[in-house]
Amino acid sequence: MKRFATYILAILFVTTSGLSAYSAEKEKVDAKALFEKKCSICHNLDRVKSKKKTVKEWETTVMRMKNVRGAPINDEEANLITDYLAKNYGK
Ligand code: HEC
Repeated sequence: MKRFATYILAILFVTTSGLSAYSAEKEKVDAKALFEKKCSICHNLDRVKSKKKTVKEWETTVMRMKNVRGAPINDEEANLITDYLAKNYGK
């Protein structure tokens, strides 16, 4: 019986760690797609990709695009895009 419990735990462990790896991967893809879709509406993506900014600076920029320029994104999308930019175009 004890072995059975260990077996179940092992399966649970493998399943959940597999799932979280999958969702992290998916989020990465989503953030990139989101960025490419939403941030190319008014200007070229090169305008963004040519920059290097800190997390704080990207946050300010993304918030300006959202609140002042009127980019059609919600707060959650703004966070995803900020994270993506800070990781890939950080300084
Ligand atoms: C509704 C139109 C619009 C959308 C959508 C938009 N932008 Fe902009 N963006 C502008 C305008 C207008 C400027 C030039 C004026 C300025 O800098 O505020 C600009 C300039 C920029 C600049 C150069 C200036 C700087 O601060 O470095 C960056 C970087 C930028 N946008 C990033 C983004 C990102 C990231 C997104 C997606 C979240 C985005 N933009 C979506 C209108 C938009």
